[in-house]
Amino acid sequence: MTILGVDIGGSGIKGAVVDTTTGLLLQERHRIDTPQPATPEAIANTVKELVNFFDWKGKIGVGFPAVIRNGVAKTAANVDPTWVNVDVNSLISKATGLEAAVINDADAAGIAEMNFGIGKGRKGVVLMITIGTGIGSALFLDGKLVPNTEYGHLIFKGDSAEKYCSDSARKKIDMKWDEWSKRLNIFLKHIERTINPDLIIIGGGVAKKQDKYFHLLSLDTELKIATLENSAGIVGAAMNVNL
Ligand code: BGC
Repeated sequence: MTILGVDIGGSGIKGAVVDTTTGLLLQERHRIDTPQPATPEAIANTVKELVNFFDWKGKIGVGFPAVIRNGVAKTAANVDPTWVNVDVNSLISKATGLEAAVINDADAAGIAEMNFGIGKGRKGVVLMITIGTGIGSALFLDGKLVPNTEYGHLIFKGDSAEKYCSDSARKKIDMKWDEWSKRLNIFLKHIERTINPDLIIIGGGVAKKQDKYFHLLSLDTELKIATLENSAGIVGAAMNVNL
């Protein structure tokens, strides 16, 4: 089946048509800067632009950076606060005239990694952490998603963990990689102590910069870098339409 996968992020909105049985993109992904302010209307228009770009007439799978309950956004950490309680499925359907299904962006990336990436075939408790503008998480038990975990919103130093060790937190104060990796290790240790997963996967924008920090991390849990890079969110959002 082919589905248009769309990954809505704090800084970019990316899309591609995905073959959901192979997890492959049918052509190169297309990226548009996230409009600012990232209001529901502005983002819906950007998704419409992607639909036009691909001349797409089928179903759309959307990954969105919020807790998603029955297609409705329940939080809005890195997008405009007016997203809270917006029915994302009907907003996107109205804007595009196409059927749309939304899922949390990290959950989407996790689904892709568990099916076609580094988590393929892994049983037990697997936690994928995506690190970029924010920090997202996707928890799996024997390959089945436990949706809407938000480990990036654990409280660290009086604020959410993503303010402490996301990639944007690093860039904001021009943090050295060794300092940032110390922070990331404290965060991951905390997760390790509380949920004792069998495997932690690091994904998101920092996955491709692993040579800067991976050797500095020290956990008792097996730790791996995601392999699908920036297509994971798109692929997982598309796959979610069929799940
Ligand atoms: C949001 C999550 C999202 C993560 C990564 C966080 O701020 O709360 O829902 O998965 O950013 O985009």
